[in-house]
Amino acid sequence: MQNIEILQANIVTLKVDAIVNAANSSLLGGGGVDGAIHQAAGPELLAECKTLNGCPTGEAKITQGYNLAAKYVIHTVGPIWHGGNNNEPNLLANCYKNSLALAATHKIKTIAFPAISCGVYGYPIDAAVPLAIKTVYQHLQKNKHTLDKVYFTCYGEDILQAYVKSFASFFKE
Ligand code: APR
Repeated sequence: MQNIEILQANIVTLKVDAIVNAANSSLLGGGGVDGAIHQAAGPELLAECKTLNGCPTGEAKITQGYNLAAKYVIHTVGPIWHGGNNNEPNLLANCYKNSLALAATHKIKTIAFPAISCGVYGYPIDAAVPLAIKTVYQHLQKNKHTLDKVYFTCYGEDILQAYVKSFASFFKE
């Protein structure tokens, strides 16, 4: 699958058309990757986010990238893990689906995802990572030639190992 790639990087450094932010429903910033993106993008990002009136879990909204190397930021709100019986898998899959749908309407060719919900939101990595890979792969199969590259951007070693392992077993089948 040549248009999906695993990267170990700080997502704010990536020169791609869009980076995806693991935001919260207020879209008013926070810690983790959200904090890093707002810090790197500068105050104009928050100013634009304030005009968006928040974002429900599983959905995605797009802004400019401002001081980031990326042209756009796609903000999506992952589910908080409550044990797995609160529709978390569907909501997490929707984060990837809705972010990719937004990318298509903005003619975005290269996009980088962090491991949505795998930090503060507590989604078990071994459940979130295969779901992310499967969801993105299925989107690319149905929408050929719309995206040149999807990067799974891993910040910690744990996530990187999870993606490498899950990738190998997914594409071996
Ligand atoms: N680049 C890439 N990935 C990063 C970066 C970065 N600069 N910083 C953190 N990450 C990784 C984390 O290691 C984790 O694997 O992003 C993944 C998601 O972690 P969080 O940022 O904690 O996001 P999430 O679990 O979705 O929780 C969202 O956290 O920051 C707040 O405002 C945010 O309330 C929201 C909640």
